[in-house]
Order: sequence, then structure tokens, then C-alpha cells
Amino acid sequence: MLSTTFLVVAFSLASFSHASVLTVTPSGRYQSTCRSIANAISNSSQLFYPNSTQYTADIDHSLVTSTQVSACSVEPGSAADVGVILRILGSTRTPFAVKGGGHAVNPGFSSTTGVQISMTRFSNIELNNATGTVDAGPGVTWDQVYTALDSTGVNVVGGRVPTVGISGLTLGGGYAFTSNQYGLTIDNMAGYELVLPNGTITNVTESNKDLWFALRGGGNNFGIVTKFTYKTVPQGQVWGGTISYNADQLDLVKEALLKFQQKNDTKAALTVPVTYTPAGAIPAALVFYNAPTPAPGIFDDFLAIPTNQSDVKTRSFVDIFNTLSFINFPKNIRYRGRTNGISVTQYSPSVFDAIVNQTLFWGGKIGALNPNVTVSLACEAFLKDLFSHGSDSAYPPDRSRALFPTAVTITYNNASLDDTVSKAVRSLSDTVAAAAVADGQNVSHAAVYPNYALFDTPLEEIYGANLLRLHGIKKAVDPTNVMGLAGGFKI
Ligand SMILES: *[C@@H]1O[C@H](CO)[C@@H](O)[C@H](O)[C@H]1NC(C)=O
Ligand SMILES: *[C@@H]1O[C@H](CO)[C@@H](O)[C@H](O)[C@H]1NC(C)=O
Ligand SMILES: *[C@@H]1O[C@H](CO)[C@@H](O)[C@H](O)[C@H]1NC(C)=O
Ligand SMILES: *[C@@H]1O[C@H](CO)[C@@H](O)[C@H](O)[C@H]1NC(C)=O
Ligand SMILES: *[C@@H]1O[C@H](CO)[C@@H](O)[C@H](O)[C@H]1NC(C)=O
Ligand SMILES: *[C@@H]1O[C@H](CO)[C@@H](O)[C@H](O)[C@H]1NC(C)=O
Ligand SMILES: *[C@@H]1O[C@H](CO)[C@@H](O)[C@H](O)[C@H]1NC(C)=O
Ligand SMILES: *[C@@H]1O[C@H](CO)[C@@H](O)[C@H](O)[C@H]1NC(C)=O
Ligand SMILES: *[C@@H]1O[C@H](CO)[C@@H](O)[C@H](O)[C@H]1NC(C)=O
Ligand SMILES: *[C@@H]1O[C@H](CO)[C@@H](O)[C@H](O)[C@H]1NC(C)=O
Ligand SMILES: *[C@@H]1O[C@H](CO)[C@@H](O)[C@H](O)[C@H]1NC(C)=O
Repeated sequence: MLSTTFLVVAFSLASFSHASVLTVTPSGRYQSTCRSIANAISNSSQLFYPNSTQYTADIDHSLVTSTQVSACSVEPGSAADVGVILRILGSTRTPFAVKGGGHAVNPGFSSTTGVQISMTRFSNIELNNATGTVDAGPGVTWDQVYTALDSTGVNVVGGRVPTVGISGLTLGGGYAFTSNQYGLTIDNMAGYELVLPNGTITNVTESNKDLWFALRGGGNNFGIVTKFTYKTVPQGQVWGGTISYNADQLDLVKEALLKFQQKNDTKAALTVPVTYTPAGAIPAALVFYNAPTPAPGIFDDFLAIPTNQSDVKTRSFVDIFNTLSFINFPKNIRYRGRTNGISVTQYSPSVFDAIVNQTLFWGGKIGALNPNVTVSLACEAFLKDLFSHGSDSAYPPDRSRALFPTAVTITYNNASLDDTVSKAVRSLSDTVAAAAVADGQNVSHAAVYPNYALFDTPLEEIYGANLLRLHGIKKAVDPTNVMGLAGGFKI
């Protein structure tokens, strides 16, 4: 099995650089805001203090570094109460955070020392076969959505990693197994129910030009989404699985990846993670085909390489989703983590070699300081016309060419290494990007996928020329910058 990981990050704030964060007493500063919220919300919602199990669940994240001790948590049960809460937070200027699935990979992006909003009560998943849409609440995760749609004959274009929530992925863009066929998650939206920063509830559809543009990739800058409506696509049995190789097969896997990129089959999806072990860099191939049998030849190069282990077969979508993960959070150990995305336009031999080199180099270096380290770089090979399926959106700023996001993940469990690992992620990303540039790829300022981007990534590197328009929309929708009280990439 792969032991790749995806993690979260923490700014090196003293308050949460301890593994034992939960024993820290929250600051008394925001208690009056907590009381105001408790008094104002309806009985569909509830506010919790650190003496409750609900609070502990509300502030919890997949990565230790994405968790902070908040003054209180609140679980809104209606869009109206989300509005009530936002108005109180805005008028008291109280820092807050909004948590969907809790898979945020950057510190402070969905955690806070102020008021933690947990969207867990928005857990509805409803297929409307007549309109060809699925309504889903921001508290659910992709495994719940796919499980609910199993055997309905339809599916949505969503996340590739179990435990990832729908809200962060959908607000940031969304690369899917079926993106070569249908585009990103944001290219398959029918609408949103959005609570604006001033507390007003609104429906956003394609006719609302500015918010439609901004919500598709613009993150949590424009309010709080209380319902996502996805367009459905047909879904039958699929074929694929995880093929693990040994370190001595790296060259053959590289050749197979190069050849795969010459092919042009919209039903095929491929991720090739390279993972550090003290014995070498271990490659794998996560293969997916959106039909019960793959087209002849499409994955033959990968199937011909001697494997360590393989579970490739015909199966349901939810079954492959549950096992086909390039981002595996270690179970039972609470990990810290840092991630980034490296945008390339193809995996050339020298880009692949740089990926292997950097995996080994930083795995060895950080492994010497923390034997529990995982370093993984995942090649995500899509088709060249990946971004041709949708209209203008906050991300990606340029739809004329595809960018492959290359997930960089380092997990570890020694808080004193937070800064070291951040620097390692930045350094290895720069090195791999430089290899792509040296190859003639025009990627020195290529947009970085916001859901992978390391916390210090400048906004220009994510939104490019869209930033000006996004600033204008933000100013109009949130003139007092309420959403600036929450973390994240702040437009
Ligand atoms: C919640 O309040 C409404 C009235 O606002 C009331 O009808 C309902 O019974 C209450 N529900 C509970 C569980 O207290
Ligand atoms: C938890 O703490 C809050 C605020 O301090 C207090 O009002 C409440 O009674 C406590 N609940 C329990 C079960 O101790
Ligand atoms: C929904 O529609 C799809 C495609 O039109 C069909 O295959 C499926 O049986 C329908 N599912 C339900 C639950 O009605
Ligand atoms: C949003 O759309 C839904 C479904 O059409 C409707 O029930 C609701 O009233 C709308 N909300 C607003 C604020 O317009
Ligand atoms: C698979 O990989 C593991 C871990 O590297 C190794 O111990 C084992 O011998 C490998 N098995 C095969 C069949 O190559
Ligand atoms: C990676 O490349 C650097 C040169 O850029 C070299 O010094 C280093 O030895 C290489 N590391 C590995 C593990 O191959
Ligand atoms: C990894 O971390 C766990 C939990 O802290 C610890 O029990 C284990 O010994 C560590 N393993 C190594 C190889 O350091
Ligand atoms: C892939 O094939 C389709 C037609 O099947 C064609 O329209 C498209 O341009 C091709 N894309 C590439 C990158 O070759
Ligand atoms: C954590 O890392 C620091 C700095 O490398 C080191 O001094 C310390 O011993 C490590 N702690 C553990 C428990 O390994
Ligand atoms: C290179 O990419 C940038 C976006 O990062 C784009 O603005 C520019 O036009 C591209 N240059 C060429 C020669 O394609
Ligand atoms: C809230 O903001 C929206 C969007 O800017 C605006 O249309 C609406 O009038 C505002 N509502 C209130 C009550 O100020």
C-alpha cells in the first residue's frame, strides 16, 4: 500500500505548534461574541465550549497543523443562522473560520482562535433526477456523496480523495477522475446557495456573472455557501485501481507515463505518485477508466511492468474511489503537514527525474530529523484540453492550456520541523518547476492550484490576471471585509 500523505500546515504560531493543542485553554477574548451568537441563533443551531465533545469534533482537522483552539464552536443548522452568525462576527470584528470536511492543508485556513463555524449540520445529499442535479450540503465529504449516488446511474464530477469535504474542493476548483471528459468540478455546477458577508441569503447561478465567476475557484472570500448544486453525469461500472511498483521500476514507469501522455482518451485518468522510502523512491500508478473495460492499449505499458501489488479490476465508482488515493493520511497517528502544487504542462523525462531526485533528497534530509516523514510528489497527467470544458472562472486564470497540478505532500510529526518542512516544500517545488522551464515549458508564473498551494503563495501566482476583477467583486460584495476575518488566500 502507498503510504503517501497529504497534510496540513500550520503557520508557526506558538499557540498551535504543540501536539497537545487540545489541552490549551482558549483565550477569553472572544467570549462575549460567543455569548451573543448563542443568544441569537435558532434552535436548529448550537454553540459549544471546549468542555464538550462537539467542540472537539468541530475544531478537528485531518492534519494537526490545521487545527487551532478556538474560543467556541458553532454548528449552524440553517442558512438564516449562518447569516445571523456572520452579522455578529462582522460587527464585533471577531476572527472566525469555516470548516466543511476539515481537510484544509494550510494552517489557519479553516481554523481560528476566535469562533470556529462547523458546517456539519448541512449534511443533505439529494439527487433530483428530473433536473439532472444533486444538492449537497457543505458538511459532507466526497465519499458520502458517491455512496449516496451509487447505483443511481449518475454521478457528479468531484474529489479524488476520501475524507475530503465537498466545500473546500468545490470552492477551489476540483480536479476529478472524469475531468478529461467533463472538466473541473467548477465546470459542472448548476448553482449555489450563498450567505453573503452581510448575512443576506442569495442563490448564485450562471446569470449572476460576477459571483458565478468568483465562487468558481475563489475560495471563502465571498460569503459562506450553504448548498452546492452539481450537474449530474452518467455513471456505470469503471475499471482501474492502484498498481504499486518497486523502486527498481522507476525508469519503466517513467517511460509508461511519457507514452501515456501521447494518448488522447477522455475516459482515462492517471496519477503517478513517487513516494520516499529509505530504500528508494517508490512509484505507483493510479489508473482509472470510465467504462467497465479500458480501451485497448491505453494502460498496457503500466500493466506490463512487474508490480509489487495491484488491485486493478472492474468495479463501482465508489469502490475505486475508496481505495484510489494519492493522498493517504496516515491512520491513528496525528500528522503535521505541508503541501504545494507544482504546475507543469507535461511530465517530461527531466521533470520526472527532478521529481524523483527531490523526493529522495528531501525524504533523506527530513527523514534524518524525523523518521516518520512521508514525502510524496504525485504526477497528475491530464489531457491538453482539460480547461476547455468550462467558462471563465477565478481559477484557472488561463483556460487556453492545461496545467497539471503535481501534488507535493510532506507529513511529519515533530512540531519543531514546521518551518524546515515549509522551506523544503518551497525549495523542491522551485527545483521541479525550474526543470520544466529548462525543458521549454512556459510555467515560471503558471497558476498554482489553490487547493494545493502552500500558505505563503502570493495571490498573483494563483489568480494571475483575474486578480484585478476578483478584487473588484470582493469590494462590492464585502465592503467591510468580513470574510477577511477568516483565514485562507485572501482576495
Ligand atoms: C424550535 O423552535 C420552533 C419555533 O421557533 C419550534 O416550533 C420547535 O418545536 C423547536 N424545536 C425544538 C427541537 O425545540
Ligand atoms: C461548559 O462551559 C460553558 C461556558 O463556560 C458553561 O456555560 C457550561 O455550563 C459548561 N458545560 C458543562 C457541561 O460543563
Ligand atoms: C436517473 O437518471 C439516470 C439517467 O437518466 C437513470 O439511468 C437512472 O436510473 C435514474 N435514477 C433514478 C434513481 O431515478
Ligand atoms: C433559492 O432557490 C430555491 C430553490 O429554487 C428557493 O426555494 C429559494 O427560495 C431561493 N432562495 C432565495 C434567497 O432566493
Ligand atoms: C513489495 O514492497 C515491500 C515494501 O517495499 C517489500 O517488502 C516487498 O518485498 C515487495 N513485494 C514484492 C512482491 O515485490
Ligand atoms: C539531486 O540532484 C542534486 C543536484 O541538483 C544532487 O546534488 C543530488 O545528489 C541529487 N540527489 C539525489 C538523491 O539524487
Ligand atoms: C512515528 O510516530 C509514532 C507516534 O508518535 C511513534 O509511536 C512511532 O514510534 C514513530 N515512528 C518512528 C519510526 O519514529
Ligand atoms: C483528442 O481527440 C479529440 C477528438 O477525439 C480532438 O478533438 C482533440 O483535439 C484531441 N486532443 C489532443 C490533445 O490531441
Ligand atoms: C524534533 O526535531 C528537533 C529539531 O530537529 C530535534 O531537536 C528533536 O529531538 C526532535 N524531537 C523528537 C521527539 O524527535
Ligand atoms: C507564458 O505564460 C504566461 C502566463 O503564466 C502568459 O501570460 C504568456 O503569454 C505565456 N507566454 C507564451 C510565449 O506563451
Ligand atoms: C447585502 O449585500 C448584498 C450584495 O452586496 C446587497 O445586495 C444587499 O442589499 C445587502 N443587504 C443588506 C441588508 O445590506
